[in-house]
Amino acid sequence: MAHGPTFEPKNSVLKWTEERLPIFGLIHGSLGPGYPAPRNLNYWWNFGSLAGLCLVIQIITGIILAMHYTPHIDMAFDSVERITRDVNYGWLMRYMHTNGASMFFIAVYIHIFRGMYYGSYKAPREMLWMLGLVIMLLMMATAFMGYVLPWGQMSFWGATVITNFFSAFNDLYAGSGNGDGLGDMVVSLLLGGFSVDNPTLNRFYSLHYLLPFVITGVVILHIWALHIPGSNNPLGIDMKGKQDKIPFHPYYTAKDGFGVFVFLAIFAMVIFYAPDSMGHPDNYIPADPMVTPAHIVPEWYFLPFYTILKSFTIDFIITAKFWGVIAMFASIILLFFLPWLDSSKVRSAQFRPVFRFFFWVLLVDLVVLTWIGAKSADEIIFMDIQAVTIGQVATFWYFFHFFFLLPVLSRVEKTLPLPESIASAVIKDKA
Ligand code: HEM
Repeated sequence: MAHGPTFEPKNSVLKWTEERLPIFGLIHGSLGPGYPAPRNLNYWWNFGSLAGLCLVIQIITGIILAMHYTPHIDMAFDSVERITRDVNYGWLMRYMHTNGASMFFIAVYIHIFRGMYYGSYKAPREMLWMLGLVIMLLMMATAFMGYVLPWGQMSFWGATVITNFFSAFNDLYAGSGNGDGLGDMVVSLLLGGFSVDNPTLNRFYSLHYLLPFVITGVVILHIWALHIPGSNNPLGIDMKGKQDKIPFHPYYTAKDGFGVFVFLAIFAMVIFYAPDSMGHPDNYIPADPMVTPAHIVPEWYFLPFYTILKSFTIDFIITAKFWGVIAMFASIILLFFLPWLDSSKVRSAQFRPVFRFFFWVLLVDLVVLTWIGAKSADEIIFMDIQAVTIGQVATFWYFFHFFFLLPVLSRVEKTLPLPESIASAVIKDKA
């Protein structure tokens, strides 16, 4: 893509450094006046930088928590209580970290939906999109393992229920039936034994500390892949001439900075006034392998996928449990193929009325999947309809949207005429 003004070092120290390591030029060209951005980006484009902020907050607070946390099943719960009560500002670090995880998922889910609405996954940004999905998978693994660390009832039983689903792989290879099937091997590799225990806590802690740095590496690739084609924009058309562009700095640094203030204000309200609102009260009870909680639920950001996992109730060739696990993974993996499932040349939903309608239907569908994920399967929702039935309909719709609606729509939908350029559309709006 075309670049803005090249970097000219203003003093001899900058010049000396630049000749040896052109790092200021890199910053100037990727976050400064040297990076031309479309002039019409709206506030939905703030969520990439907000996700980056969340990653930094998680790493800093996590490193401080690790200084006081003890990864042993006899001490983990107490060490977390001690952090909250006795360590100076430990309560703040802990609440920032737990609520930070939720805020991170909120920012990233909005970021993904922005991309889906404006067609940011389409050519030439497929690699950028796929790297984003790798980040999302890594975030999920990190969050899942992090939730086990406080060693409360939900930590223990959540890990037990979810890892147990992998025993369904015994359907592919059962072995001799004495714990050497494919599923048994996967489960014991995950747990470091036959059940959730001290080795599980240790390996989850180790990986929970490692993965955020892997995420950071993939984020760098993600930003690199963004800077090759440059940002998409609400109109979904390419930048043509100078009139369509503005330098990233000061325009978008200011806009992103404003977003950061609003985001931090909301974050502060959650931490100071409702720090446990997104958590489960049972996690304040120490883990007890002898007492199963009445109702085991994962964190809110896993609920849609949990509903998909539980929606398979009929054995078909192999067990329902196996299909549930496959469907849960498929629901995320299919997003890697989105650029090809939706082959319409028009990117933005603004010019695709039918696509836009079904985009909102999909969003409602995901709200339903989230809502049902927190219910027990046999709970009656209305009339005689059980939660599991609603979950099954919502699961069907999710796959139907991606595998049927999108491919068909991208071929038959009559799209609206695209504006000539970003500048002409923006100026016409003003007139
Ligand atoms: C740690 C997580 C992430 C960080 C820090 C991050 C960061 C960013 C940043 C700073 C931008 C440019 C600003 C913007 O367009 O909002 C961006 C763009 C983008 N990201 Fe991410 N991202 C993350 C996760 C994801 C995920 C999970 C996906 C998708 C599955 C994704 C897909 C995209 C796409 C398609 C764009 C280009 C948007 C456009 O130009 O319209 N990102 N990302």
